[in-house]
This record gives sequence, C-alpha cells and structure tokens, in this order.
Amino acid sequence: MKILVIGSGGREHALVWKIKQSKLCDKVFCAPGNGGIALDAECIDIKAEDIPRLLEFAKKEKIDLTVVGPEVPLSAGIVDEFEKNKLKVFGPNKQAAQMEGSKVFSKQLMAKYKVPTAAFKVFDNADEAKKYIRARGVPCVVKADGLAAGKGVVVAKTVGEAEKAVDLMLTQKAFGDAGNRIIVEDCLEGQEASILVITDSKEVIALASAQDHKRVFDNDQGPNTGGMGVYSPAPVVTRELLKEILDKVVYRTIDGLVKEGITYKGVLYAGIIITKNGPMTLEFNVRFGDPETQAILPRLKSDLVEVMLAATEAKLSRLRALEWDERPCVCVVCASKGYPGEYKKGKEIFGLDEAAKIKDVVVFHAGTKKQGDKILTSGGRVLGVTALGATIKDAINNAYQAVGKISFDGMHYRKDIGKRAL
Ligand code: GLY
Repeated sequence: MKILVIGSGGREHALVWKIKQSKLCDKVFCAPGNGGIALDAECIDIKAEDIPRLLEFAKKEKIDLTVVGPEVPLSAGIVDEFEKNKLKVFGPNKQAAQMEGSKVFSKQLMAKYKVPTAAFKVFDNADEAKKYIRARGVPCVVKADGLAAGKGVVVAKTVGEAEKAVDLMLTQKAFGDAGNRIIVEDCLEGQEASILVITDSKEVIALASAQDHKRVFDNDQGPNTGGMGVYSPAPVVTRELLKEILDKVVYRTIDGLVKEGITYKGVLYAGIIITKNGPMTLEFNVRFGDPETQAILPRLKSDLVEVMLAATEAKLSRLRALEWDERPCVCVVCASKGYPGEYKKGKEIFGLDEAAKIKDVVVFHAGTKKQGDKILTSGGRVLGVTALGATIKDAINNAYQAVGKISFDGMHYRKDIGKRAL
C-alpha cells in the first residue's frame, strides 16, 4: 500500500515510524513532514491545510490510505473531499470533527447524552457572560467555541481574569469567528488522563492510556503548552476506571453521535479529569494526541495500518484484540527557549545519532528541518525523546539518558516527566 500521512509534528513522525513497520505498507509519504520525518518517508511540500493540493497528490499517486494528523484539515472537511473522490482516509468527517472544532457542539452533545462533564453555559454576549461568571463564582474556565491553535482556553482564578477572557474572545475577537460564541464552565480538579480510542461507530478499540504534562516548567508551573512530555500507561487509569470511562464517556458519546445521524470513524481522544466524584470529560479531540502518540505507539505490537484500514472500511469488529508491550514508555519534549511564547529558530541540533543508539530509544522530530547534512530547529516543540523501560523508572532514566546526548542553543525540557507515575 502507498500511505500518505498529513501533518508535520512529533505525532506525525510517530505515525510514519509505526506505519513503516506494517507488513501492508510499501511506501509512506508525508505532507509536509519535517527534518526527521524526511529520514523515514518521502516528504511532499504541501501544507496540511491545503486540501485541494493534497487531494490532487493523492489521486495522482494513487494513495491507498491517507492518515490525517491535525484537527484543522479534519474540521475543514478533508475526509469528505477524499471520500467523494473514492479515496480511503482515516479520520472523522466534517460533521463528526465538530467534536473538537466546536466546543459548543461537543458540550451540548455531552449534556444531551449524559456524558459526565463540567456544568456550563454558552454565550455570544459579553455582558451576559460576565453576569453569569459573577453569580457562579470562580475558578472557572472560559473557552472559545472554535479552533484557536490551543490558545482558546483560559482557566480563570479571579472574576477579573474571567472577564478579561470574555472580552478577549467576544469583544476584541482575538480568535476571529472561533470566538463568536464562548463557553463558561466550572473548573474541574483532579489528575488528567488521555484516553484514545479507534472507532468506526460500531466497534470501539481503546488504545493504551497516557498522561500528558501541559505546563512548560517542572512541577506544573508556567503557561500551558501543547504538551511537554507524556508517559503511557497512566497508572491512575486502573482497569475499573477505564471501563467506567469507556461506558460513561466514550460509548455514550459515540452512540449519541449515531443518534444525531453522525458516523464517527477515526480516533476519538477524550481528555479526562479524574475528580473525586469520578471521571469527567474535559474535552474531546478528533485526532491522535501530541505527544501522547509518541508514547503510545512504541508500545503497540499490533499492525496499526490494519486497524486504521479496518476503521476506515467500518470493519473493526473483524479485528483481534490489540497486543501491547507491557513496558511503560516515556516521551520527553525538547523545546526552544521561550516556547510557548516567542522563540528563535534555525539552531543546529547535535547528538541525535548518539541518542538514537541507546537501546529502546526513538527520537521523534516535531519542529525540525533538514538543511544539507544538518538538522535545525524550526518550531517551539522540537523533539520528542522517547524510551521504553522495564519499569516506569527505567523508561524515565532511558529517556533522560538520551536527552543528555542531545543539545541545541536554547534547548529547554522538563526534568520531571513521569515523576507522578512513580
Ligand atoms: N496532548 C494534547 C493534545 O494533543 O491536544
């Protein structure tokens, strides 16, 4: 099979790396890819949002399966376009992708089908939102309805902060149309876990659990990022808790979508907060997590292409249970100094080969580009240094041993990834 992966981050590198190992795969392309992906796949210079050119490429190359990494093309309807042209594509269609593309859609669906989530209200008027915040109290969370590159969520500890977020979104239109409507919801307290499933709307296959580290500095300090590191499995997600999450969150959501006439095919990623009253849904994403994928896929022994193909063809029920490596996996993100704010690009990265020589270590590239023989930084999150280990402690040690071999000007990483799991 010829397989096209769309995207350019660490998640897409992990997907390419795993897809390449499939007995079904003859060739992998990645659009646009990055400096590390270029070593594993043929990179095509087409942006992930450029649906017409991606479609033209897939038709011309006779791509057998396209795997969409990021949420933006999914929300824009790439799956609908590819399917109209009889091309197989792994991911939800435009209607289903509203689970991430519209927080209002997703929260209203959760409320209708009794999926546990924080109490909320929807607003398109700033004064009404502020009145509600003053009456309900803080802390609270203010969320823009649409996609805002991970910046549309404000956790407000004071009424002033919450009102500022309301003005930013509804009055100043900082996120454009994505902020035409906002959600104000109660703040959930507890550990967060990522539960990813692959579904064709009839069958659901859970992937191994994972726990992300969202803040930029150790001990969960500093601003939120796309994720500074992750481990899988998340010990906090016991077998019983996973069953509860699948029953109350995942099945109810997929059944709810079906009742609304929406078929969901692809990955559904539930961000869960484990509160003292049980698991509550923070949000849904309609794609693989980043960096969760980097720690989950090295543990997957089964053929990922077989699973994605079966989901695409609505034949998941024919598959056997997935096989997993019991060993834990840890991914430490190396970022550019300043991320998630301003940062410099174009810094040469050293030590990649030495790091990759360490047993059970894979270095996934996120924001890198190849220039001649050199690999340079080109993004905020630069690398996902990933390691398996006999125990979580071993996996942590292996990952940090590999990080120790790597350097670039301004390299920043958290020193406490996986500590919570010890
Ligand atoms: N790890 C967070 C995300 O993928 O959105």
